[in-house]
Amino acid sequence: MSWIRPTALLRYGKHDLTDLSDRTLSERTASWCFILAVTSIALMTSLAPALRAASEATAERGMVVSVSPAASAVGVEILKTGGNAVDAAVATAFALAVTWPEAGNIGGGGFMMVAPPDAASPVCVEYRETAPAASTPTMYTLDESQFTHRMVGVPGTVAGLALAHERYGRLAWRELIAPAQRLAEQGVTVDAALAASLNEGLALVESSSEFARVFGKAGGKPDGEPWRAGDRLRQPDLAHTLRRLAVVGPEDFYTGQIARQIVAEMVRGDGLITATDLAEYRANVRPPVHVRFRSFDVYGPPLPSSGGICLAMLLGMLETFELGERDRWSADSVHVVIESLRRVFYQRARYLGDSDFVDVPAKLTAPEFAVQLARSIDPDHATPSEDLATDIEISDVTVAGEGAHTTHFSVADAEGWVVSNTYTLEQDFGSLIVVRGAGFLLNNEMGDFNRVPSHTDREGRIGTPANTIAPGKRMLSSQTPVIVYDDGQPRLALGSPGGRTIISTVLGVLLGTLEYDLPLRDAVDAPRLHHGWLPDEVHFEGVDDPEFSVLVDQLKQRGHRFADDTSPQGDVHAILIDPVSGALQGVADRRRRGSAVGW
Ligand code: DON
Repeated sequence: MSWIRPTALLRYGKHDLTDLSDRTLSERTASWCFILAVTSIALMTSLAPALRAASEATAERGMVVSVSPAASAVGVEILKTGGNAVDAAVATAFALAVTWPEAGNIGGGGFMMVAPPDAASPVCVEYRETAPAASTPTMYTLDESQFTHRMVGVPGTVAGLALAHERYGRLAWRELIAPAQRLAEQGVTVDAALAASLNEGLALVESSSEFARVFGKAGGKPDGEPWRAGDRLRQPDLAHTLRRLAVVGPEDFYTGQIARQIVAEMVRGDGLITATDLAEYRANVRPPVHVRFRSFDVYGPPLPSSGGICLAMLLGMLETFELGERDRWSADSVHVVIESLRRVFYQRARYLGDSDFVDVPAKLTAPEFAVQLARSIDPDHATPSEDLATDIEISDVTVAGEGAHTTHFSVADAEGWVVSNTYTLEQDFGSLIVVRGAGFLLNNEMGDFNRVPSHTDREGRIGTPANTIAPGKRMLSSQTPVIVYDDGQPRLALGSPGGRTIISTVLGVLLGTLEYDLPLRDAVDAPRLHHGWLPDEVHFEGVDDPEFSVLVDQLKQRGHRFADDTSPQGDVHAILIDPVSGALQGVADRRRRGSAVGW
């Protein structure tokens, strides 16, 4: 893994020309040159001890990288007041619920990988949503709306953050919520990204809805105008909810007044979540999935996320190909990556679901199985996805893709704590349902179950039994927050949004750093690709780039089909830790906006 060194930049994504941290191009250039010019952390520290917010930063004492500059700054403030990286992660998560409401949340769920200093490996604080007790495997139709109260899973975020804090945090719980409460009360300055996000959300809802009230007039939106950069978003109801969480404690969400508000919302919209569902919700600390790749130990989340197991299969397969000895963008290299993804997503569809409910074959993470899968790749031809799946009946339907909803942030401190957290409402703003009077959004995570048993289609809907709905079961996720160890120490934390593409995005950045020895900046900037078994097509950010036209033609000749969609894939926020000095390099994706803040 490379520490900072100058390289050519490859930048992908429609937002890449607009650094939404409001810095000018010359400022960005200056910042980049600054980083390149710095040859030692000692020099860096003496030059710039103050807080820095940008799409990359280098620091000694702490680092927070998230999609939101204000939330990253909250995390760093917590580190400055003596909190560790877990405290900072909890505070950042609460802040994101205010500053990035399309994905930051208290009404959703996720996965937090925590690496304590001197521990041999990280743990995973799992806070995935559960199916309400009244849910059944056949409760949805194929064309079921994604935006109803029936799509809401029992939220896990508050329980997960409380568990992480209780086990690993240091500061008082209320101190971690106070900054978010303040942001909700006093308001946040809307930037271009938040304005676009809020306007998109408002376009999806009825004007009489609670969403329209909270993110419209009550939020401070100018009458009759869309949100614009420079406006101020205030969320008084959310501030009140956060105050209750701070003062009464996280239990208020599950058994107290906030729980009653959620249940009342469910009654209003014919939802399924009851007071008992909320009271019975538990987050878990689970052992991570481990895979040895080259000389590195890669840790990802276990079921109910498919991320760790899929990464183990992918890295196990790709290790057999000695990719690093060839050009990354040669047809041979890209072909085996695509074919590996195709095979792994097929295994995902066949076997993966909540391991508290279904038996998942242990062979999936065995190195021999990865070798066996790798050997099944035809070096010259794409394998039609349906040829792999003789055991799954596939019906004729089409559409859809995976957006960049969800959000990931990474945190590290000087003591050696490292946190990698991905959490989500599922789609942007989840169900679009704001709990009346409580100011927060509810997820629509039930959509991550195999919604219609036995219905698998070419669009990518899966109908296999492992991930069908059952009361209390957790829906299968693709969230993949990872922490990579090198020589027994955490070296790299990263993750991304993007539904199933999350796994491909994380794989791409891991290959960039661990296999191709790219600096983190370049690994994050590099074009991304995804193949999810079904639909049987490659999503490649570089598909229309003349630089890759020969590659794309060669792959088409091997039988690969490319999606027309060239939208950006994922939004990675990563931290690299220098093994010698312990210095921290934060890199935020530039596909959207993002902010690395160090101190
Ligand atoms: O847990 C998951 O895998 C999804 N709910 C994440 C959603 C996401 O990243 C955006 N989806 N299209």
